[in-house]
Amino acid sequence: MSDTPASTEIGDRAAYAAAVQTAVAASAAYYGEGDSPLDDDAYDRLVRGIAAYEAGHPDDVLPESPTGKVAGGAVVGDVPHTVPMLSLDNVFSAEGLRTWAARLARRLGREVAAWSVEPKLDGMAISARYRGGRLVQLVTRGDGAAGDDVSHCTGMILGLPGRLARPLTVELRGEVLMTRAQFEAANAARTAAVGTTFANPRSAAAGSLRTRDHPYEVEMTFFAYGALPMDGTDGETAARLRGLPHSQIMELVAGLGANTTAATSAPGITATSLERVLERVEEIAALRAGLDFGIDGIVIKADAAADQADAGLSSRAPRWAVAYKLPAVEKITRLLDVEWNVGRTGVIAPRAVLEPVEVDGSTVTYATLHNAADIERRGLMIGDHVTVYKAGDVIPRVEAPVTHLRTGRERPVEIPAACPRCGDGIDASQQRWRCVRGRACHAVVSVRYAVARDQFDIEGLGEGRIDQLIAEGLITDFADLFTLTYDQVIALDRMGETSTTALLAAIEGAKAKPLSKVFCALGVRGTGRSMSRRIARHFGTMDAIRAADAEALQEVEGVGPERAAVLVAEIAELAPLIDKLAAAGVAMTEPGAGVPAGREAGQAAGAGAADPPLAGMSVVVTGAMSGPLDGLSRGQVNELIERAGGTASSSVSSRTSLLVAGEKAGSKKAKAERLGIETVTPEEFAARVAAFL
Ligand code: IVH
Repeated sequence: MSDTPASTEIGDRAAYAAAVQTAVAASAAYYGEGDSPLDDDAYDRLVRGIAAYEAGHPDDVLPESPTGKVAGGAVVGDVPHTVPMLSLDNVFSAEGLRTWAARLARRLGREVAAWSVEPKLDGMAISARYRGGRLVQLVTRGDGAAGDDVSHCTGMILGLPGRLARPLTVELRGEVLMTRAQFEAANAARTAAVGTTFANPRSAAAGSLRTRDHPYEVEMTFFAYGALPMDGTDGETAARLRGLPHSQIMELVAGLGANTTAATSAPGITATSLERVLERVEEIAALRAGLDFGIDGIVIKADAAADQADAGLSSRAPRWAVAYKLPAVEKITRLLDVEWNVGRTGVIAPRAVLEPVEVDGSTVTYATLHNAADIERRGLMIGDHVTVYKAGDVIPRVEAPVTHLRTGRERPVEIPAACPRCGDGIDASQQRWRCVRGRACHAVVSVRYAVARDQFDIEGLGEGRIDQLIAEGLITDFADLFTLTYDQVIALDRMGETSTTALLAAIEGAKAKPLSKVFCALGVRGTGRSMSRRIARHFGTMDAIRAADAEALQEVEGVGPERAAVLVAEIAELAPLIDKLAAAGVAMTEPGAGVPAGREAGQAAGAGAADPPLAGMSVVVTGAMSGPLDGLSRGQVNELIERAGGTASSSVSSRTSLLVAGEKAGSKKAKAERLGIETVTPEEFAARVAAFL
């Protein structure tokens, strides 16, 4: 990330005036109804462009310009704040943070000894006033000096108790937001009641706070990030709130019963060095995609009260705190179409086709939609502007239509009445729709998957050949391959003696594949190569897998209750296919199973002796493989890692133990360096695991 982010080019005074007008309107919508026509990135670019123009043309500056104002100057309220509710200054990179911290140290005349590092919650700032432990008033930030009374929302906000654990008079400050589930529920209720949606969780919280008589129910969540004394606060409490470090105030607040980030998987921490602060920034950034609430950065605060007091405030923001902004993970784009695809297990999944848009470093053209009900609940229409979310490695998703941008030319999404692949019926009894033919509907794909290199590895079976075998009625699934006869194969188009013999030999050879490959070939939903290996190692035989209940399956690393339930159902459904494989003489046992990884029978001598070289390590592979690893697929390298006792993972985090970085390694290498994770070349790695190659 650079510290000079993109800005909108503004050439002359007229363009400047127009830009100010657009920004003020967008900001008013954002802080008002929460329905800004610009996404955060576009708004920020515009305001930076305005600021750049103003820097060069100080005489042209318009009084209504949003620069340097809390909430872009868009809102004013009528309840004065005890102490102004300020904004935060932003940095966008480690460099930016270092520069900011150095400036703060110069101002203080000393280094900051301790920092608080916490997620920057993406919601609406709220001040909650408690008297004698009772919640008496809720006020929005407004223009920072005065806000709106939104006390009518008390009772709709989780984490904001009506009564504190102690009868204190105190003002809590924090953010009101909607978790993903709260947002989905609010939008479903809103679509049903008034036919419109909120574009994203942030605007849903903003809009819901503002609405007086909700025609539908909404629930929001409060996260406190500070506490202040107010009129009526007793002397002792006031002294503590003024004198305690921020981290201890947060403990006090949590002890009173208010929600804080301490209760989440991305809790605030304290750090005594800027390096640790930066590490925590990376950690929180990596956790972002998995959080059920939105964050748009990390807030770094001088922890000690004395540092805060000595640093003081500017008109807009405190000098003792800064926001390390993370890239936007949500953009507005157009929904061009909805495609219905039939997967290898017969699942019929709608997919949104989007006008390509760049989100968090990659171009998004498709996004998942779960099912028809999901589309209806969201009230999506073809041609809609939609908000698209994508963070880290998560699959992009459509959050909601931006209903106020509708033109009237949008069309309803057509929901198929029959399987879009084979025309047979749809089983809509489950959340995920499936073709009534199940796996047989899309047999080509499942057979193709089963015979691929990482599963049965049967050469000479391309998609065309599989299509032909199915069309001729010779196979309906991949188990039928094992009973094909010479006469059947040679009778196929363009099959000679040599190719027939070769294909049948390849099929015969595949019968000896270890259980891990056979299990993977089944294409159990949500189970890929690594998971198949772990299951095969754990149980050793297909019979043992079939005998396992959900509880037994959960003994396998990475299998939680949800996945275990899917596994049980899928294995039951696949019973006829597995029986066919067994009858055809497919082996289905895992050599060396039950023995810790790397000590399996039949492994090279050196491998059996001591602890495997990667025992307990989480290893990530990136870039091109070379040396002894040249030509290995990523799946094969991952298999190697697991044979050598490690766990293969696809993304770098603080839990990563080792990164294998080949030529053209990119962001993963940079991130590993930032986190201080050991990085080796493919050659060095090959040397470490030589006994397992
Ligand atoms: S401290 C004087 N901590 O971000 C302002 N703010 O962009 C001190 N925010 O107005 C605020 N998470 O509404 C603080 N952990 C956090 C926060 C946080 C979100 C919001 C807050 C603030 C805005 C500035």
